[in-house]
Amino acid sequence: MAFHPSLRGQNAQASPIRRLSPYADAAKARGVQVLHLNIGQPDIPTPPRMLEAYRHFDDKVLAYGASEGSAPYRTALAKYFNSLTSDTTHAPVQPTQVLVTVGGSEALQFAIAATCDLGEEILVAEPYYPNYKGFAQILGVTTRAITTSAANGFALSAEQVRAAIGPKTRALIISSPGNPTGAVINAANLQEIGNVCRDAGIFLVSDEVYRDFVYDGSGRAPSVLWREGLDDCAILIDSVSKRYSACGARVGCLVTRNREIYAAALKFAQTRLSPPVIDQFAALAALDTPQSETDAHIADYKRRRDALVAGLCAIPGVRAQTPAGAFYLIVELPVPDAEKFCIWLLENFAVDGETVMFAPADGFYATPGLGKNQVRAAYVLEVPKLQRACQVLTAALAAYPERLKR
Ligand SMILES: Cc1ncc(COP(=O)(O)O)c(C=O)c1O
Repeated sequence: MAFHPSLRGQNAQASPIRRLSPYADAAKARGVQVLHLNIGQPDIPTPPRMLEAYRHFDDKVLAYGASEGSAPYRTALAKYFNSLTSDTTHAPVQPTQVLVTVGGSEALQFAIAATCDLGEEILVAEPYYPNYKGFAQILGVTTRAITTSAANGFALSAEQVRAAIGPKTRALIISSPGNPTGAVINAANLQEIGNVCRDAGIFLVSDEVYRDFVYDGSGRAPSVLWREGLDDCAILIDSVSKRYSACGARVGCLVTRNREIYAAALKFAQTRLSPPVIDQFAALAALDTPQSETDAHIADYKRRRDALVAGLCAIPGVRAQTPAGAFYLIVELPVPDAEKFCIWLLENFAVDGETVMFAPADGFYATPGLGKNQVRAAYVLEVPKLQRACQVLTAALAAYPERLKR
């Protein structure tokens, strides 16, 4: 008797962000220090008030919470979302429209499950956050990609969305500021994309977990919550992971003014009983983080971005553009196969005991062949470490036997 996993399990794609981890572990076991530019794990300290809240949590029983999240936290979240706009023409977000989830990840799964049936389709703009495809695949939903390119800053136009919508399309998922591109969708463009989705009868799932990470001084990226006429079709995804450098807290939320979608998502939420109680308590405290603290971190990320882009662009044959937001960028390398090069970096190369790890970018594309010579870099390390990573990359490319001349 053979006990095989389901076809769904067999066909699941390993995360391009994590699939080279065994090579990194082996390098570390050999004593090599790995500079991690592959994963979006910020090194910025979690706000002290959030860590304090963990220390002061003193419930006598660690009981289940409400499936939709704790009332104080949902109320505070609604207030937070309402603080994002000065537009008084729009109805404010109500706590009853906020569903607390286990990270933004669970909010994404609920959004896909609440909008798509088996065999239906989500649209994503490639390169995209690979877990969109991963969550869809678990649910038997297919993913169709709209290709965007570095040539125009990975912009997504409403026209491209209109042209891509097919008979099975039920939702478009966008990430702005974007992972892995760093592209930010401006308010007018977001409105146009939303109008196309609404007119075609498909949902717009707006993943805004990097909302605060915008470097042109304009403040936060525009939110789908404050675009006109999208109440029925818009679903917002949010998370404390990046904003408060609290990826391990596992708290996110789904916000929608569509009551039926909310009701469906709540039924899914009831199956997993409740989101983490203690983490919501801490996330509630994090909401009081002064804007000045966030601004200081954003200024820090801007310095990191500029240092990394400058360092990369100084390497012969390497191409990178300055992204407007998030903390990632797509980097084109003068190699035929970026994954092979990334493995070689971990297995065969080090400068003074240090090497660098990137995420091969082909896993961020659905179209075969795209991203083959690209990696995603995350600037989540201090400037000297990013500069060191560029030095290691320069030396590595000079030594790499398969380097392309250009
Ligand atoms: C674009 C995007 N959405 C959602 C998530 C999920 O984050 P979490 O589940 O930690 O909230 C991530 C994590 O990296 C992300 O990059």
